[in-house]
Amino acid sequence: MPQDERAYLMRYPDVNGYYGRFGGNHYPPEVWPALAELASTYQALRDTPDFQHVLEKVRIGLQGRPTPIHYLENTTQEVGGARIFVKREDLNHTGAHKINHCVGFALLARKMGKRKLIAETGAGQHGVALATAAAYFGLECEIHMGEVDIEKQRSNVGRMRLLGAQVVAATAGQSALKEASDSAFNAYVEQRDHALYAIGSAIGPHPFPMIVRDLQSVVGREARGQFLSLSGGSLPDHVVACLAGGSNAMGMYAGFLDEPNVILHAVEPLGKSDQPGEHAATLSFGSPGTLHGAQSVVLQNEDGTPTLVSSVASGLVYPGVGPEIAMLHEVDRLNVASISDEQVISTFFRISKAEGIIPALESCHALAFAIELARQTPSSESILVNLSGRGDKDVDYVLTNYGTGDSRSS
Ligand SMILES: Cc1ncc(COP(=O)(O)O)c(C=O)c1O
Repeated sequence: MPQDERAYLMRYPDVNGYYGRFGGNHYPPEVWPALAELASTYQALRDTPDFQHVLEKVRIGLQGRPTPIHYLENTTQEVGGARIFVKREDLNHTGAHKINHCVGFALLARKMGKRKLIAETGAGQHGVALATAAAYFGLECEIHMGEVDIEKQRSNVGRMRLLGAQVVAATAGQSALKEASDSAFNAYVEQRDHALYAIGSAIGPHPFPMIVRDLQSVVGREARGQFLSLSGGSLPDHVVACLAGGSNAMGMYAGFLDEPNVILHAVEPLGKSDQPGEHAATLSFGSPGTLHGAQSVVLQNEDGTPTLVSSVASGLVYPGVGPEIAMLHEVDRLNVASISDEQVISTFFRISKAEGIIPALESCHALAFAIELARQTPSSESILVNLSGRGDKDVDYVLTNYGTGDSRSS
């Protein structure tokens, strides 16, 4: 691991799991011992040759890492301006970046003598990735998913079941990602003696945001080295990631956080409009609050309950962000942008037709922003986007609701 990246990763969180004023452990006291055990096991294992060796072996053989960086030449020429590159996390086995941290959680579960992994999922990408890691390591797997998402992301539900996971429907409230997280957490509290909660993003109480970030940092580490060699020694001017809890963003940023000349962009879902309940743009419209066991920035009503949220991308329908993202925003290290559902769908069609890559709707937020940015930026500059997942899971939904996009462009 390069010293620069290491320097940042070792600075945060503090001993109590805080990133500035965000983070901590705000879960009920009955789970504190289980979280403390997870934190100490992880600290003891993270740098051991055995842990790193198994991780490396699985990343190469099962996941297909390293994923390449690819130049979006057709789109760059069509748009004009800065050159757009993508880090192909969509080429991971199971189709998204989520498997980067799922494999690590499965390894930790085995070391801790747990026989089961529990998690929530929105788009189903985390659920499929965790079910895959559980199958590989011989663990049971229980995935909680909002009823709305079970219907929308049917193919991923089928994949989880094929891989041996039990899929539990979350039916409260909006029946989406937040409710799936509530449901998964309750299941974990009941089963914590034999199960490990393998959270789906860089959210939740300490030590989850740290573990997810560290395991995802392989993305930024690889991307940095690959970009330096393809550009003859320079770094990208802009690094772009879509944002829900922040696992793909933190993973990608980890390679560039100590580089003040690299501008980091976080792209949120503007959904149908900027009105409350019609988007999930937490950093743009939220305020400090507590969600899923951590102090962070939350989209909340006056009484502190999370607001309704909306996005065409199930994986972004979440009323909060991880605590480290909240800190980076507060210290002005992040530029925050938002992209509407309409722009997302146009980008889905555009990248599919121009590049031969069908991107996940979540990743289309980052791509749509990168295209806008490229238009306003000189051709001497470069933009590196985390293409966090592939859009296979979205094909049925898009075809049914928007057709094939033959008469659209962005
Ligand atoms: C492909 C893809 N990208 C991005 C996300 C957003 O999550 P995060 O902010 O944790 O990267 C998801 C969540 O399901 C996803 O499936």
